[in-house]
Amino acid sequence: MLSPKQLDQFKTDGYTVIENVLSPEHLAQMKTRAAGIVNEWKEDADNPIFTTKDNNRSNNNYFLNSAENISCFYEEEAFDANGEFVQKREDCINKIGHALHELDLTFQTISHLPLLGEIAKDLGLEQPELRQSMYIFKQPRIGGVVNWHQDATFFYSDPISVITFWFAIEDATLENGCLWVEPKGHLGPLRERFNRDDNITTMDALDDTPWPTESGVPLEVKAGTLVCFHGKLPHYSAPNRSEKSRQAYTLHVTDGRCHYAESNWLQTKTLPLRGFDIID
Ligand code: FE2
Repeated sequence: MLSPKQLDQFKTDGYTVIENVLSPEHLAQMKTRAAGIVNEWKEDADNPIFTTKDNNRSNNNYFLNSAENISCFYEEEAFDANGEFVQKREDCINKIGHALHELDLTFQTISHLPLLGEIAKDLGLEQPELRQSMYIFKQPRIGGVVNWHQDATFFYSDPISVITFWFAIEDATLENGCLWVEPKGHLGPLRERFNRDDNITTMDALDDTPWPTESGVPLEVKAGTLVCFHGKLPHYSAPNRSEKSRQAYTLHVTDGRCHYAESNWLQTKTLPLRGFDIID
């Protein structure tokens, strides 16, 4: 499935870019369904705002419960000083998470496409397990920053196995807050682990290697493109101050051969834990 060049890029730089993985029909289905989920969402939570600024996920049952359901989260800048939406409610949603891949038929079907299983295999995932899904809106004007981080922080296994599947649902550009990565950064250490003990989460430092400042590169990609990257690859995205959203969908996939840490915040307890569909 993947070309030698793509495989080499993944190994050498920690990521690879694969164009035209999702069809225009897939993209339309996902956009429509994501909008439908937002419309159907009955807001009854105490704190459904998502931020990576201070790892403010501790003691947040809404966040913790989202491990195995479909929850919407607001952008940090969704509300003005009076508590009113700064723009239309549907344009204030940061993301939907974290079990779309099992609980919503549209996302379930696309998340398990056999083609993705082929790609996963090429990248070395022999027993892929889909741990998490997110639909990210990166809304016009208020789309929040996602600070530099490594996804193995959240999906630790021994040895580290998580690979992120990042799908551009819309064109991602410098203007609307595309993904940035640090090529070869996956060869460095894992800096942090996000651990959970009952309902308390902590971000525990492992290594004080600084986050990239000059060495990041932007990945401007067309809708339908898949970016796959290694669990230790530092990545980031800037705030979106443009008039266009930058919608994306992500899957985090670990390898069943590796021990998945019990202290990871997301544990699959009630839903199936499975890989991609296989065509016989
Ligand atoms: Fe990430």
